[in-house]
Amino acid sequence: MRLLFLGDLVGKTGRNAVIERLPSLVDDHALDFVIVNGENAAGGFGITEEICQDVIDAGADVVTLGNHSWDQREALVFIERQDRLLRPVNYPKGTPGRGANLYNARNGARVLVMNVMGRIYMDALDDPFAAVERELDACPMGEVADAVVIDMHAEATSEKQAMGHFLDGRVSLVVGTHTHVPTADHQILAHGTAYMSDAGMCGDYDGVLGMDKEEPINRFLRKIPGARFQPATGEATICGVAVEVDLNTGLATHIAPLRLGPNLSETIPDFWN
Ligand code: FE2
Repeated sequence: MRLLFLGDLVGKTGRNAVIERLPSLVDDHALDFVIVNGENAAGGFGITEEICQDVIDAGADVVTLGNHSWDQREALVFIERQDRLLRPVNYPKGTPGRGANLYNARNGARVLVMNVMGRIYMDALDDPFAAVERELDACPMGEVADAVVIDMHAEATSEKQAMGHFLDGRVSLVVGTHTHVPTADHQILAHGTAYMSDAGMCGDYDGVLGMDKEEPINRFLRKIPGARFQPATGEATICGVAVEVDLNTGLATHIAPLRLGPNLSETIPDFWN
């Protein structure tokens, strides 16, 4: 089974690049299941119902969130009726929406997707390791789910690597989001779980984390907030990670990064050909 995970869409340039190119990526490469992190899709902060629907219509089976989940307040409401949108599973009890759900892929496989947030240099949420363990107990790979994907939205690579090894052999893919910079450590761990510390973002890399450069530089130099952060508006580079999953085991047989766009060296997974 071919899985594609795309990192955080940032602003209009990021989401439009994905909305334009995802349909042909799905068709040309016979992708079975696509997950997109959308927590920065609306002007860099949160997601609206319309944008979420546009990304789903373009071919995303699931849209995940993170620390910016509720920046657009409407997400607190529409997440209840949009079961393809996931917020972090380790938010407090009573938080709207869901953090894990089982979906049918285009090839008929059942895919459990989970969004979880780290706690290092992030909000003090519930223990992400315990939360993931609880959800996996309820829906183990090989029994209820044919494949399992974890989007770990976190700052610290140490916490993400620990999650990868904690889940090694029990899930198909652990991929990090949030830092907006793709890492080069994509690998299949010892027991068969695909892992990458950060998928990178889908946005303009001629900026600071997808934002226009001027205000971030100003804040580092002067320590006085000037204007609001605005997403950079140059052409976006799409970044993500592709995984081939053996449906007999749910484990990964191949992993490779995807980078398409003007600023980073382009790469397409060779096992897609
Ligand atoms: Fe984030």
